[in-house]
Amino acid sequence: MQHKQKRSLMNFISVLDRNTMLGRLPYYTKLRSAVEKLYLQRRLSAAGIDLAFVRDQWFYDHFAAAPARINHMARKKLKGEQQRILDFGCGDGIMALGMQLQNPRARVTGVDLHDAHKCLAETAHKQIQLHALPETLQFHQVQAGEKLESAVGKGFDLIYSWSVFEHIARDCLEGIIADFHSILDKDGLVLIQIAPLYYSPFGSHLLGLVDEPWAHLLLDETELRAKVAGRDLTEFRDDQKNLLFTSCSGNDFKQHMLSEYSTLNRIRYRELITLFEEKGFKVAKIRKKLANQRIPSQLLQKVAREDLRTYEVFVAFRKS
Ligand SMILES: C[S@@+](CC[C@H](N)C(=O)[O-])C[C@H]1O[C@@H](n2cnc3c(N)ncnc32)[C@H](O)[C@@H]1O
Repeated sequence: MQHKQKRSLMNFISVLDRNTMLGRLPYYTKLRSAVEKLYLQRRLSAAGIDLAFVRDQWFYDHFAAAPARINHMARKKLKGEQQRILDFGCGDGIMALGMQLQNPRARVTGVDLHDAHKCLAETAHKQIQLHALPETLQFHQVQAGEKLESAVGKGFDLIYSWSVFEHIARDCLEGIIADFHSILDKDGLVLIQIAPLYYSPFGSHLLGLVDEPWAHLLLDETELRAKVAGRDLTEFRDDQKNLLFTSCSGNDFKQHMLSEYSTLNRIRYRELITLFEEKGFKVAKIRKKLANQRIPSQLLQKVAREDLRTYEVFVAFRKS
């Protein structure tokens, strides 16, 4: 497929994504996923990857779909040769692998507090028959508060962080953003995605365990925990089944999810932008996704409508 055709497919997807009314149309989701899969298969064929083998929705979303959104947002930046890319908070490393294979001339480094990336080779072999991870893909485990430059060096063209910034301890946020500034190339780009934002309908990150919108803001702690405890996990959604879900007991999974919930930093998207601006960044692009559920009136008295509705923010920052 010609470069221009590939780009117009991705532009088409991003226009669909921005139109919240489309989500209500029958068959919209199927059409959107079919177009996206076509685009991604073309992009990954060069690396010998056949997405038809992928059976796991979590893997597909992180290996193919999320990197495609990063690539689209940073498309001008990623045109160059030998770009250095940092995946901050890489978790299981699936997304970093997707970025590396979708950008074969780049060098991708993943960092995280944990070492879940150690299972990546086995997962990639199972899901896409990959025999060895690319040599250009590297991972580093860091301590909270450790200077990023000492772990991964500097001169990055692109730093992205996917579903991480709502999990970072409040007292680490400023230091991390300042670190991004010092390890980013002067023309570099930082992309931050957060979903779901805390005040949005499923901002508790308990979707699948508690399906009522804004339950975490409407129920007290005991009621919320009781709902989680009583949940039948056989009904759990495929796209929520991460490595933890597949590797531990239902009870341990529920406990882990509740402990993640209790450590969410509750960041709002305007606060995110202010934090970056204070550390020498300016916004280059913002994409937001809005929830369309009816907001209970008692919440509108306590939380701004904008925070209750915005469930995803995806922002590109440059140095100012
Ligand atoms: C919800 S997971 C997202 C992982 C991955 N980005 C993904 O989308 O699958 C959040 C990750 O952020 C990492 N994290 C949280 N605080 C961090 C910090 N200060 N430094 C590095 N990683 C951090 C956690 O260890 C965890 O792996």
